[in-house]
Amino acid sequence: MFGDGRRHGGAREGRPNYTINGRAGLPNWDGQGNRQAAPNAEQIERGRYVVEIGGCNDCHTAGYAEAGGKAAESDRLKGDTLGYRGPWGTTYPTNLRLSIGKMTEDQWVKYAKTLMTRPPMPWFNIRAMTEADQRALYQYVKSLGQSGTAAPAFLPPDKAPKPPYIQWPGVK
Ligand code: HEC
Repeated sequence: MFGDGRRHGGAREGRPNYTINGRAGLPNWDGQGNRQAAPNAEQIERGRYVVEIGGCNDCHTAGYAEAGGKAAESDRLKGDTLGYRGPWGTTYPTNLRLSIGKMTEDQWVKYAKTLMTRPPMPWFNIRAMTEADQRALYQYVKSLGQSGTAAPAFLPPDKAPKPPYIQWPGVK
């Protein structure tokens, strides 16, 4: 995927300004002979888009759906204390800024490609992402910084959670 050079300042001093963006792991040349520091702003923006469209905030950002999808960047992806109870037990959306934030980019890609969790986390959606999108997602989460506290620990099916929680059918 080639970035559109025109969106990055276009020709300067009559010289074309070519950029190759959106390709993880490749240096980013600005056409002036300067190597820009990776990650670039476009990759982070792509990650923000993937997270928003991928629905990650819906569960991993407390109060996001209720607020109509509005949350300060500083409040995003810090997990939630709202439990999801089903026959699998009770799961809590994790603080991704702590979990992903502690990994290297390559560790995350390996983890994302083999990820499998309990419901209702759509782990299959992360596996279905292109590696470029997985890397962009990583760079976005990393750009938010490590913040917040860890979500409550998973509870096995025989343990009743404290409210608030959402309950699926099939709980015995
Ligand atoms: C329907 C709610 C929901 C949505 C949507 C959702 N998650 Fe999750 N996620 C969870 C829950 C609940 C867990 C904990 C699962 C468990 O305990 O097994 C979890 C666990 C995870 C984990 C594994 C634990 C960790 O922090 O390493 C990752 C990674 C993750 N989610 C990333 C994402 C990303 C990225 C998206 C968007 C593409 C997303 N989630 C969308 C609810 C959700």
